[in-house]
Amino acid sequence: MLVPYSYRRLKRGPQVILPKDIGIIMAYSGIGKNSICVDAGTGSGWLAVSLARASKQVTSYELREDFIKIAQRNKEIEGLGNLVLKNADITKGIAEKDVDLVTLDMPNSEKALRPAYKALKPGGIAVGYLPHVEQVKKFVSSMVKLKFSNIFTIEVIVRDMLVREEGMRPSTKGVWHTAYLVFGQKEQLPEALQH
Ligand SMILES: C[S@@+](CC[C@H](N)C(=O)[O-])C[C@H]1O[C@@H](n2cnc3c(N)ncnc32)[C@H](O)[C@@H]1O
Repeated sequence: MLVPYSYRRLKRGPQVILPKDIGIIMAYSGIGKNSICVDAGTGSGWLAVSLARASKQVTSYELREDFIKIAQRNKEIEGLGNLVLKNADITKGIAEKDVDLVTLDMPNSEKALRPAYKALKPGGIAVGYLPHVEQVKKFVSSMVKLKFSNIFTIEVIVRDMLVREEGMRPSTKGVWHTAYLVFGQKEQLPEALQH
């Protein structure tokens, strides 16, 4: 499967989010050049860098200084002045306000949903990147308790095709399961204000 050069040139430490999921997170959350985003955990920063390429400001929270160094290298490779890397526990609070998107890729992501809800502006979106079904159940249940709306869960499967004269079919190789994506919105905006 094609991993574009804009990703292959980035350093990797802990497990990264791949372009197939990054694309859907960005498209379904609707972020754009005026968006303010918060991300955790930074890890290698693949998602944080992707968000920063397309939005106004990204703050990414990470517990481990050694991973921040990898993400810092990726930030420099991409020349992203709008990406702030914070050595902090996101479950303890989010300092940023009126945020359009909060992305969560870490164990116990549901523990960051309360601070995420506070930081989001009305209509803002929280997304969980969750490898296991048990995590999805906990995350959705926390979203329901916090009164997130428009909650939905998807899995992104991309199939390579073998294109040839004879026996054209999907390839048996490739990346299959990575994680489930759970989306939820802070309050629904009146229709007239939706874009
Ligand atoms: C799988 S990595 C994230 C990969 C990243 N999304 C990417 O695309 O490169 C998960 C990270 O979450 C961090 N983490 C775990 N709990 C955290 C917390 N409460 N606050 C901030 N970071 C946390 C871990 O140290 C780890 O680096």
